[in-house]
Amino acid sequence: MRVLQLLSDGLFHSGEALGVELGVSRTAIWKQISRWRKKGLNIDVVHGKGYRWRSPLEWWSAEKLLQHMQPETRRIVTDLQILQVTDSTNTVIYEQLRKNGRSGSVCLAEEQTTGRGRRGREWVSSLGSGLTGSIGWCFDQGVAALEGLSLAIGLSVVRALKRYGLEEAGLKWPNDIMLGSAKLGGILIELQVDGDGRCLVVVGIGLNIAVPGELDAQLNRPVTDVSRAIGSKVIERNRLGAYVIEEALLMLKNYRPGSFAELHEEWCRYDVLAGQSVEIEGGQETIRGKALGVDIHGALLIDTPSGMQAISSGEVSLRGI
Ligand code: BTN
Repeated sequence: MRVLQLLSDGLFHSGEALGVELGVSRTAIWKQISRWRKKGLNIDVVHGKGYRWRSPLEWWSAEKLLQHMQPETRRIVTDLQILQVTDSTNTVIYEQLRKNGRSGSVCLAEEQTTGRGRRGREWVSSLGSGLTGSIGWCFDQGVAALEGLSLAIGLSVVRALKRYGLEEAGLKWPNDIMLGSAKLGGILIELQVDGDGRCLVVVGIGLNIAVPGELDAQLNRPVTDVSRAIGSKVIERNRLGAYVIEEALLMLKNYRPGSFAELHEEWCRYDVLAGQSVEIEGGQETIRGKALGVDIHGALLIDTPSGMQAISSGEVSLRGI
């Protein structure tokens, strides 16, 4: 990490100078830099000049994140952990919630080794390429009160992106964050009802910020990132991260039974599936038809040859794509 801090100015540094600064050999510097390059950081190696990190990252900083939040949101945060690397931030927050049942715990990681996606998939991200974070919340009113929550969290991410200046983000039911037909981010909500009937909810958010080309190819489906979307290489990660956490926390804090009905109209404004021919893969059957938005409970409405159907879970794909 220390070598990256020295390279954070985006200028060339010789191996020798870095070695002197850190009290290690030039070979040790080379080994460290090779490791970071393998993790996807674009560090140039130029003979006679040394090393240069072309697009240095703004690392997550608890202090900066809190600074970018409104004072009233800051008060909702009960714990803010920044981890260099972890298996999955959802696991970290779940363990914490199980121990203390306290709403408002937040964890962000620079790197996840076994990030989880929806429907048992893996969430692939590389060091610093995005936002990988989770928030823990405890609901007292039972599972029924959570109807539509996963869609509402998607909406909170779109609100955060708009605040950052990205106006065009959309939502693909239930909660993919999209830019046109390319995925910008996703949400994984995991929950558990404890012995007292309380619902422990972990909201996991993955957002692509600056995905390296190699990772792009590995994902074999259209993905995009905030950096491309707003046409800037320099992303103020802590400002963007603060907005995402803030909007999600406010959504969680104010969420009540029936809340989605109030958000329904706003959600539909960002619906990228509306009017499209879609296929929904459920447990045993595939439903085909035209997507007609969502109802006030958050179910996807599909106009099928056998009539209108309201779908509450499944994987949607656009037909013919
Ligand atoms: C999806 O499949 O679209 C949901 C992806 C959710 C990924 C995030 S990254 C932070 C949190 N930790 C995980 O292991 N998954 C979620």
